[in-house]
Amino acid sequence: MNSFAGKTVVITGAAGGIGQSLSLWFGQRGARIIGIDKSVNAAAALTALEDNGIDAMFLRLDIGDIAAVAEAFGELDRVDVLINNAGYSNHHVLRLTTPESWAEEINGNLNGAFNCAHAAIERMKPQGGGAIINIASVNGQSALGDPAYSAGKAGMISLTRTLAQELGKHGIRANCVMPGTVRTPLWRERAQKDPEVLKTLERWYPLGRIVEPKEVAEVVGFLASDASSAVSGAVIPVDCGLSAGNIVMTRELTLEDL
Ligand SMILES: NC(=O)c1ccc[n+]([C@@H]2O[C@H](COP(=O)([O-])OP(=O)(O)OC[C@H]3O[C@@H](n4cnc5c(N)ncnc54)[C@H](O)[C@@H]3O)[C@@H](O)[C@H]2O)c1
Repeated sequence: MNSFAGKTVVITGAAGGIGQSLSLWFGQRGARIIGIDKSVNAAAALTALEDNGIDAMFLRLDIGDIAAVAEAFGELDRVDVLINNAGYSNHHVLRLTTPESWAEEINGNLNGAFNCAHAAIERMKPQGGGAIINIASVNGQSALGDPAYSAGKAGMISLTRTLAQELGKHGIRANCVMPGTVRTPLWRERAQKDPEVLKTLERWYPLGRIVEPKEVAEVVGFLASDASSAVSGAVIPVDCGLSAGNIVMTRELTLEDL
């Protein structure tokens, strides 16, 4: 259970739904957690970790702010694992996207991930290695709304491959997971307002359900661990089978009840 004892794991977006699950998963396995989040919820997320006996610290900053990121990482003793998990979308269709909102969302999603990777690499190189895991999304490979966010996620997939290629010689691995819909507080709230919303969504998932936050953490944990020591540059869907194909269309084409 203490497979990450002595390791420092930096998790961006640590106050959010998946971020809290990631923090708990690594913390319960002995890691020191450095949470980065711009939200006021950071204080409550830290308390929740400490209540579970986890060694944790939170830094309140926007990862799109390169100077703030560089300063924060400069203060850390070491970084063994970086999980670029922070992400958001405020504009769900192109019609509502402005040049300003596009730039802002690319900055907060993609540039922020680069800023953190850039700073983390400088800590990892002298340590002899490390692991970077980018949390992208199925939106990074298909058009599913949220255009700036999706372009940012596609960029994170590309960034993962570049990091893997250029940093392997330093013992640094970089991998990416693409979650489908995850049962975070946001989706729980939506489902409370409209119980049909998840049923409608679940039709698109071959497993007939959406992803639990802990299931994302389990895959990220594998990618951060020595169990994946030869895995770098991988992009792994954690999406209950969504990326396998279009099951709704397959049902319509075959007239079979899959
Ligand atoms: N929930 C889903 O269904 C789903 C699906 C696919 C991918 N994802 C991805 O998983 C990650 C976590 O999502 P979540 O559902 O937990 O979202 P969430 O909104 O619950 O949490 C995201 C956290 O990131 C923080 N954050 C956002 N931008 C930031 C910035 N620029 N600087 C610092 N902190 C910032 C927010 O304050 C928030 O606490 C995101 O990257 C998201 O795109 C989520």
